[in-house]
Amino acid sequence: MNNPQNNSQPIGIFDSGVGGLSVLQHIHQRLPHEAILYIADSAYAPYGCKDTKIIKQRSKIITEHLIAQGVKAIVIACNTATASVIESFRRQYNIPFVGVEPGIKPAIVATKNGHIGIMATSNTLSSARYHKLSQRFTSKVHLHHQPCPGLADQVEAGLINDPKTIQLLQIYLNKLQQKQVDTIVLGCTHYSFLSQQIKQLSIDSMSIIDTSSAISEQLLYVLTKNNLINHNVHQKKTSIQYFTTGSSRKMQSTLNCLVAPNLSVKKI
Ligand code: DGL
Repeated sequence: MNNPQNNSQPIGIFDSGVGGLSVLQHIHQRLPHEAILYIADSAYAPYGCKDTKIIKQRSKIITEHLIAQGVKAIVIACNTATASVIESFRRQYNIPFVGVEPGIKPAIVATKNGHIGIMATSNTLSSARYHKLSQRFTSKVHLHHQPCPGLADQVEAGLINDPKTIQLLQIYLNKLQQKQVDTIVLGCTHYSFLSQQIKQLSIDSMSIIDTSSAISEQLLYVLTKNNLINHNVHQKKTSIQYFTTGSSRKMQSTLNCLVAPNLSVKKI
């Protein structure tokens, strides 16, 4: 690739909202010298049930904003947006993209009885990209798909232990447990923030698959391949900037619950 990017530039990460912060945390741990610009498209969250035309438009606007800010690579920390746009964006923009998708492969390694539950948004589960991915494995295992409307909204509001969140989880997990699943894939980055609750509400032997840490390995690989790793170890460790298209006050209070207190969020 002919790279207009250089290695001291930041990495851009975006999601419909705060879900991608679960990916950001792993990236920051794995690549602590990289500066990061994070954009939550909170004004348009959730993406999960929206018309895919809107998701494509929003992802384009945010991608072009990140490119204008001078990022060297973009992580689409959203399964729903990845499913809709990553292939066309890779053709369209001269910048490396890393996306997220439900971790079926690691689930196949983890399952003992061959019954895997996939928790994801309706849009991810009905996308052509997910269909192609899941088709590769249907001869090996049984994939049980569970759309989870309402769950991302609860995380978006920081309500991870709220009775409504637990009630929704109970409904979705009961449906999967009736199918005898022994492994659950978190196919939406928002659900990573609920992994403790999911563990507690599931049978003891349930394996929970979250690909957030695998994304940081993939990003490391892509940056290395494109000679874009930042070797300046003096880069400030605090060089993460948070932006939202919605209310900065609201996102700040969600960050307080999910990440850390007193992080500053700017509205774009
Ligand atoms: N966090 C997103 C995902 O991974 C989308 C959740 C939503 O906006 O519905 O799919």
